[in-house]
Amino acid sequence: MAQILSLSGANGVSDIHIEAGLLDRAGAVIGETFSPSRIHIVTDSTVAPLYLDRLKQQFALPVSETVLPAGEEYKRLAAVEGIYHDLLASGMTRKDLIIALGGGVTGDITGFAAATFLRGVSLCQIPTTLLAQVDSSVGGKTGVDLPEGKNLVGAFYQPRLVLIDPNVLSTLPDATFADGMAEVVKYGYIANREILDLVAQPDYKQNIETIIYECVKIKRDVVAIDEHDTGLRMILNFGHTIGHAAEKLGNYTALTHGQAVAIGMVCAMHLSALRGDADLSAPLVRLLQQIGLPTELTYDREAIFNALLSDKKKFGATVNFILVREPGRAEITPIEADALHEFIKQL
Ligand SMILES: NC(=O)c1ccc[n+]([C@@H]2O[C@H](COP(=O)([O-])OP(=O)(O)OC[C@H]3O[C@@H](n4cnc5c(N)ncnc54)[C@H](O)[C@@H]3O)[C@@H](O)[C@H]2O)c1
Repeated sequence: MAQILSLSGANGVSDIHIEAGLLDRAGAVIGETFSPSRIHIVTDSTVAPLYLDRLKQQFALPVSETVLPAGEEYKRLAAVEGIYHDLLASGMTRKDLIIALGGGVTGDITGFAAATFLRGVSLCQIPTTLLAQVDSSVGGKTGVDLPEGKNLVGAFYQPRLVLIDPNVLSTLPDATFADGMAEVVKYGYIANREILDLVAQPDYKQNIETIIYECVKIKRDVVAIDEHDTGLRMILNFGHTIGHAAEKLGNYTALTHGQAVAIGMVCAMHLSALRGDADLSAPLVRLLQQIGLPTELTYDREAIFNALLSDKKKFGATVNFILVREPGRAEITPIEADALHEFIKQL
């Protein structure tokens, strides 16, 4: 059944539709929301042969496209500039519409292009990975990487429309699906334990539409309170602090983002236990293993702590850690860098 969630942001309201089969009705839903003269679709080289024509054929107006090479290594300013040139070549104006069709990389690049081209053009996100459906397509963070680090250039820019069709996940490689599941588990632990109960079922993929809806609802609620990431939105970083450090130590190739987050969540649970709180790690480890995600931190603890220091610089002498008090409830917890150093040695 179609579910619609709304999010009010600084640049207007986003409507988020979730429904199996929605890709084949996207043209109609887009027609109810926008009245552009032209549409430009940005996608990548893996998604284009799977879904681009199915989307394009639904529009009676002129549709142009940019097909980016697939992969995080292409999430660069050069990709954004290429989109600007294509937009100009096809005669796009501020009244027209840009659609991002793809995973988080396509969504982030396209969102940034839409935020900045002619100082802002309407944007529709059609996310095609689980990660993009439960996380990156919602909330308005857009941007690209620099050689110095990930997501260093960007803008907050809400898509006017997000169309989530769980059926497109059927073509995802298992490992890419599992990556998105790390974020799903994260949502369960920080805000809604019922998601964990659903994921623990052996046939949980049958309920993926409900799972996506529950996750998006959490993201919507958090972003509605803290759109520009100055406080509560940090709660979405459960597992990401040590996860980012592990990802960095593996040069962003040894571990995928979801794998790093899975390990980071287990470490955060151990850290809670070391601070004297209940040890909630065993059921989390079981769930992640069932999904096919790693749970062991294999990097040198000193190197992990050093990688964390870049976070420490951001927050002064303390690092903000997201700790789970009980499944479904987490808190932003500042930890002194020296104390954190001792905990990390014991992980
Ligand atoms: N903006 C945000 O709030 C936010 C949040 C989390 C992550 N991100 C960003 O998201 C990116 C990661 O996103 P991702 O994991 O979706 O990566 P991705 O976009 O690279 O997609 C992963 C792979 O799956 C392929 N793919 C996409 N949809 C497919 C489908 N339906 N069938 C088969 N293959 C498909 C893609 O071509 C790509 O090769 C990172 O750059 C990260 O920084 C952004």
